[in-house]
Amino acid sequence: MAAGFSKGRPRLGFLGTGWIGRHRMSAIIEADVAEVAAIAEPSPETAAEALALAPGAERVDALDALLAMGLDGIVIATPSALHAEQSVLALASGAAVFCQKPLGRNAAEVQAVVDAARAADRLLAVDLSYRFTEGMRRIREVVRSGELGRIYAVDLVFHNAYGPDKPWFYDPKLSGGGCVMDLGVHLVDLALWCLDFPDVAQVGAQLFAAGERLGPDPSQVEDYAVATIELAGGTAIRLACSWRLQAGRDAVIEAAFYGTGGGAALRNRDGSFYDFTAERYRGTAGEVLASPPDPWGGRAAADWARRLAAGERFDESAQELVQVARVLDRIYGR
Ligand SMILES: NC(=O)c1ccc[n+]([C@@H]2O[C@H](COP(=O)([O-])OP(=O)(O)OC[C@H]3O[C@@H](n4cnc5c(N)ncnc54)[C@H](O)[C@@H]3O)[C@@H](O)[C@H]2O)c1
Repeated sequence: MAAGFSKGRPRLGFLGTGWIGRHRMSAIIEADVAEVAAIAEPSPETAAEALALAPGAERVDALDALLAMGLDGIVIATPSALHAEQSVLALASGAAVFCQKPLGRNAAEVQAVVDAARAADRLLAVDLSYRFTEGMRRIREVVRSGELGRIYAVDLVFHNAYGPDKPWFYDPKLSGGGCVMDLGVHLVDLALWCLDFPDVAQVGAQLFAAGERLGPDPSQVEDYAVATIELAGGTAIRLACSWRLQAGRDAVIEAAFYGTGGGAALRNRDGSFYDFTAERYRGTAGEVLASPPDPWGGRAAADWARRLAAGERFDESAQELVQVARVLDRIYGR
């Protein structure tokens, strides 16, 4: 296959094969549209687990070595501080990129990656995995059909009873932020995606760490945040997210849309991180749009691989990633 790009069965390299990298690798293997040609992962144990999934893959030292192979695409699942720089290098070398979220620690980093993808004319996608739940797919359809009338309110919630276990998540220089960067990014994306990325008028937020208020552009990561995002058309989006909130369950996850003609909401079932129910509301009555089981976790990765195999190049919708990152920057007051 020609270096960097051609239609057919793309050869992929996997950079970082921790739990999330291996999960997405399995989804791409299952989709059976691409070859896992190589992996780069510093931990020998972790690399061995990845090679068990893809026995034909070569293990190389680092990104440079992956890029020297002239692969068609690179799947990045390294710590967040590395995402933007690694994505830019991969795109500039002619490879398409599928990157874990967040694509960058701030909007400037995200814009640099999108610019690199546009300049190289390569397919760029980010693992905004909740877009690929059947529930959100149905809710977006209902919202965009106009059935709910004018959407004037959106409620977004993601409380995770646990916090990340890797130290870098707690250094804002490395992570870009706490629970907003980790969990809020998914929700802000879902809201703007369902509403076709309208302009954002105003953003206000309160951030906390261990119950204490943080100021703007904090030097500590937040573990609780509330934010109000006012869209140019007047729609009010309320966001609440946290790590280690004592909420009596593993997780509270919600994306609810309220319009002049009804409502629709995605909610996790019984505190689950994985099981969601989507409903459409008329007054006090509810109709189920989607319910478990729905194995959605690997769909964004498989979708990118399929699009790459179909010969897709840069897609201008990648610019939406910058819009989400700008909202996050405003939540952080920077
Ligand atoms: N899409 C989602 O819903 C979702 C879910 C979980 C995690 N994530 C994201 O995945 C990313 C990774 O998170 P994690 O908890 O697996 O982190 P992690 O610290 O375990 O790192 C992942 C892997 O990258 C490897 N690595 C580190 N530096 C590397 C380098 N220079 N080159 C190649 N490999 C390198 C590590 O050895 C590790 O195996 C984070 O950015 C996180 O936000 C996304």
